Amino acid sequence: MESKAIINTGLRGITVASTKISDVQGQAGKLIYRGYLIQELAEKASFEEIIHLLLFEKLPSAEELENLKHDLKQYRALPDPVIKALQTCPKNALPMDILQAGVALMASYDPDLEDESRQATMNMGIRLVARLATLVAAWDRIRNGKPPIEPDPDLDHAANFLYMLSGSRPDEETARFFDVALVLHAEHSFNASTFSARQVASTKAHIYSAICAALGSLSGSLHGGANVRVMQMLLEIGSLDNVAPYVENILDKGRKIMGLGHAVYKTDDPRALILAPMAKRLEEKTGGKRWYPIARLLEEKGKAAFKQRKGTDIYVNVDFYSAVLYYAMQIPVDLFTPIFAVSRISGWTAHVLEERFADAAPKPMLYRPESEYVGHYCGPEECSFVPLPQR
Ligand SMILES: CC(C)(COP(=O)(O)OP(=O)(O)OC[C@H]1O[C@@H](n2cnc3c(N)ncnc32)[C@H](O)[C@@H]1OP(=O)(O)O)[C@@H](O)C(=O)NCCC(=O)NCCS
Repeated sequence: MESKAIINTGLRGITVASTKISDVQGQAGKLIYRGYLIQELAEKASFEEIIHLLLFEKLPSAEELENLKHDLKQYRALPDPVIKALQTCPKNALPMDILQAGVALMASYDPDLEDESRQATMNMGIRLVARLATLVAAWDRIRNGKPPIEPDPDLDHAANFLYMLSGSRPDEETARFFDVALVLHAEHSFNASTFSARQVASTKAHIYSAICAALGSLSGSLHGGANVRVMQMLLEIGSLDNVAPYVENILDKGRKIMGLGHAVYKTDDPRALILAPMAKRLEEKTGGKRWYPIARLLEEKGKAAFKQRKGTDIYVNVDFYSAVLYYAMQIPVDLFTPIFAVSRISGWTAHVLEERFADAAPKPMLYRPESEYVGHYCGPEECSFVPLPQR
């Protein structure tokens, strides 16, 4: 029996690798993609420029951007057998499960699958970035008994996704807001899903396997699944009057207010601060029921009640206002987490490339943490096996 001390749980505070892709500064509330502050990227860059920044390690020239856009458009359409397979799936399947299944299936139709080179992994990554959006939109159409809509080559990634989902071209402002949401969700260092992708990539499994693992991880309600829960919570609250009693009731029961709290940020998430005014503006413009004021009051009351009970502050995270924004875009609530993946696929791909092919020290290696066995022994020694009839 060997004794092993537990250093920490959940790997919090443990640095497991080096990365050149992004930096999350929790105390300062800063998010940086390859040296650039997220605020500036959200204001000035398109999602396609972010894909280039993450995958090719620099902002593109005009020609490089055109080439990337061309490649993305060329790969948007799903292989026909994948559409046929989606048509056989149960209509009430969880969309994140469909994404995992769809990505696993797409692997078989990728001509680069068995090529282990960096270039082949890059090619597959770009196809995945291009196709994940199509997969989400196609699934929503299929589950509603409608044929998938062909991608529109005149539209950029964000606008094309909204078009494939609804069948009508979004106005310029809505397309831009969605593009900004994709920019904001693209990358966030070693969060749970990215770590899942890197952990699988560290075994030299192909990128489709790594992305399937990441999708599974993202689906959880403590991670990407939180944006769905935020909207469900707002719908349940329903009115400004219900906010305060809802907060007290949730905290009395020891449950969590979704969209508050973060494992790294110890201040408001910079992405939430960018998303909130966009959600407000779009709601005002579309003139439907206003969820933004309810969310705003919930943030205020939730923070105050948390502070009163725990004596510490809690902050708003990215999922809080992205939920309100997507709802104002009339996107079905259960697609909010798949949309997170439509963006984060770019960050995951960058991390898979780094995990597999980084040449700078310290080089990545197969992840193999230790665990402390706290299970059963028979006295000081191992148990002796008792045959079935004698048990
Ligand atoms: C994201 C999250 C997992 C971060 O976790 P963390 O910083 O490690 O904090 P913990 O989960 O350990 O919680 C610490 C304490 O704060 C409480 N807490 C954390 N987030 C809370 C929330 N959103 N609402 C109410 N209480 C919360 C926990 O219950 C815990 O209380 P305890 O010490 O009495 O047990 C957590 O804040 C959370 O579950 N938030 C809601 C889900 C969410 O929005 N996820 C998206 C993240 S981007």
